[in-house]
Amino acid sequence: MRIIHFSDIHLGLLPHSASFLLDKRLFGTLNHWLLRRRKQNLEYLDRALAAMQALKPDWIVCTGDLGSVGSPEEFHHAVALLQPFRKLVDGRFLFVPGNHDVYVRNKACQQALKRAFHELNGGRWAADVSYALLQQEDVEFFLAMAAHPLPIWMSSGRLTHELMDAFRDWSQAPRRSTAPRILLCHFPVRTRNGAPLAARRRCHNANGIVKALEHHDIDCMLCGHIHRPFAWMPQNTNEKSPIQLCAGSLTLTGTFLALDYGNDKSDFSWKFHHLSPS
Ligand SMILES: [Fe+2]
Ligand SMILES: [Fe+2]
Repeated sequence: MRIIHFSDIHLGLLPHSASFLLDKRLFGTLNHWLLRRRKQNLEYLDRALAAMQALKPDWIVCTGDLGSVGSPEEFHHAVALLQPFRKLVDGRFLFVPGNHDVYVRNKACQQALKRAFHELNGGRWAADVSYALLQQEDVEFFLAMAAHPLPIWMSSGRLTHELMDAFRDWSQAPRRSTAPRILLCHFPVRTRNGAPLAARRRCHNANGIVKALEHHDIDCMLCGHIHRPFAWMPQNTNEKSPIQLCAGSLTLTGTFLALDYGNDKSDFSWKFHHLSPS
């Protein structure tokens, strides 16, 4: 079974509603157009689709930051743009939001996120769940929604106690089969060196996830948020150890990930794919 993972496409469109001038969307929009946009290559999206097509994935997962300020315009554009990716895997597509998708408390933005979440996940869950579990014969996914609207200087996440209880129940239950257990969360729990992220960028209340990786209760955590790809293995022994993989930003670094699982849980490999910039 092959899973493709990408993240942080950060579309960035000017919000139509003037209300964006009144909250941190103004800062986020300026930040995107003055700084991030110049480093982005949106052509990576077409190239990624072609590359993924050739890889014949069974699942495609996206770990958030579809836009820059979580506006209805960005979600509308992102959902349309990701349609061919969803088609490629016949709807076996999963999405967890990032901090730029849950940017402000504005009602229209929050409604648009709910619609996008529902649609991108193929209507599998209600639009306002804080976590979701998908248990298939050959793979198990736990989707952790850690992003919440925050003040302008923060880009951190927080896992609720309710979410962590559900995560513990899932990850510590006896395994039903050799199906890999994969956690999807926008925020990494460790940097490439195994250190916690800085407080203003980290995922708070995530110790249970670090422990689940250390104890091999889960096999893999897929995340984004950091725009350069990296891997972190708590046991650091071999390629089959539990692992946290950050895909980087598809539109900034042109990277995505492919994970391959065989019939046996230990039969696992992964690879970063780097798209060519021209
Ligand atoms: Fe991001
Ligand atoms: Fe992020």
